[in-house]
Amino acid sequence: MDNTRNSTRINPLDKPLDGAITVPGDKSISHRAILLSAMAQGTSRLTGVLDSADVRSTITAVKALGATVSLERQLDGSLAGGITGWGSDGPTQPTEPIDCGNSGTTARLLMGVLAPWDIRVEITGDESLQSRPMRRIIAPLMKMGVRFEPDAKENLPVIEQGSRQLKAITYDSPMASAQLKSAVLLAGLGADGKTTINEPAPSRNHTELMLPEFGVTVGSSFRSADVTGPVTLQAAEVDVSGDPSSAAFLICAALLKPGSSLQVENVSLNAGRIGFVRTLERMGASIEVRHVGTEGKEPFGIIEAAYSDNLVGCEIPSQHIASEIDEIPVLSLVAAHAQGITVFRGVSELTKKESNRLDAIVEGLTMLGVSVWTENDDLYIEGQPDLEIPEGLVFDSRKDHRLAMTWALVGLCGNQPIDVVNFDSVKVSFPQFLESLERLTR
Ligand code: S3P
Repeated sequence: MDNTRNSTRINPLDKPLDGAITVPGDKSISHRAILLSAMAQGTSRLTGVLDSADVRSTITAVKALGATVSLERQLDGSLAGGITGWGSDGPTQPTEPIDCGNSGTTARLLMGVLAPWDIRVEITGDESLQSRPMRRIIAPLMKMGVRFEPDAKENLPVIEQGSRQLKAITYDSPMASAQLKSAVLLAGLGADGKTTINEPAPSRNHTELMLPEFGVTVGSSFRSADVTGPVTLQAAEVDVSGDPSSAAFLICAALLKPGSSLQVENVSLNAGRIGFVRTLERMGASIEVRHVGTEGKEPFGIIEAAYSDNLVGCEIPSQHIASEIDEIPVLSLVAAHAQGITVFRGVSELTKKESNRLDAIVEGLTMLGVSVWTENDDLYIEGQPDLEIPEGLVFDSRKDHRLAMTWALVGLCGNQPIDVVNFDSVKVSFPQFLESLERLTR
């Protein structure tokens, strides 16, 4: 092991995965529960909130803006407690720049939250976040009357100067992005009139589903959402279900590790998030979803999966990509074990995530000896059902949590130890990743 590069040895699981488990709270829903509570009048009560580095960035941000946060860590590792928001008084001028760490959702949604207030806030983040595109958020907010310094810059840090006279707009978004959609809707809550956002394909709709819990009427259809402002949110209760994006790693581990069979309980079944289940079904995986109920307007339930040794490649059209965008790295690894070619259409957004995930997938699968290539915006993987893992592989996570977990599965489910550089980036979304897998092998 090369300690100088901070690499972690991942050994093969000594037994199949077996049994039932829950995963930590959904990251997207946790961010929104904290942000909407901070914006609301009164004290909101939250349970099941994810305790991870990204969510901590959102908590730090709303505290700096004047919300009172008393979330405490529970025995199950989640955060629960109250948040008293700034309500109609608005956020207070922070004394320091707001550092969003690695979290794109924190930075982008925060831009919308700050838009209707007369404060001047510097927003920044870590090296990865500083390289991610921000003009996609800045452009519609500028149309609404927000000022940014420097003007229309692509990368953080930027200074945002909100406006008490925000204009409501209708915005045709160039991409299916829930962060963009949410930023515009959150700004629209403080604008005078109806703000509408139209998307080329549907993105996850957690903001639209949660706003009504805080007393806001939202218009929502297949590729469009609107809010009418100005409106003050009222405190609410939110119980956050498990994160399907974290569950996906356990599920894919079960599909790849001979003899495994597991159930992930209390997981969000939001249709905008479980595109990966539909793809795995089409690949012939043994996977089943059982709806149990709703928390607020969010559906949740159980996902069951078992070892599948006859996976086949399939084609995923671009319209479906947004519903599985965060799972494409791990789905690519599954595709590497399937018979035939899998094609993910229209995946250029993968180059704009915590790292360039498209490059990383090509690099990692090539190391495995799998034929993988890109053509235009499409990703092709020619799987090998009898894939032999070469000895001594070292994968670079690129400090990207989803890559760290994807490459860890190569070691965990195969018969060769591997090393992952900067594996600790899993703390961004699923700090208990290894512990959960170990529990399932006991
Ligand atoms: C997120 C939306 C997605 C996703 C990200 C979280 C959100 O990004 O990749 O991990 O919470 O809104 P897009 O804004 O590109 O949809």
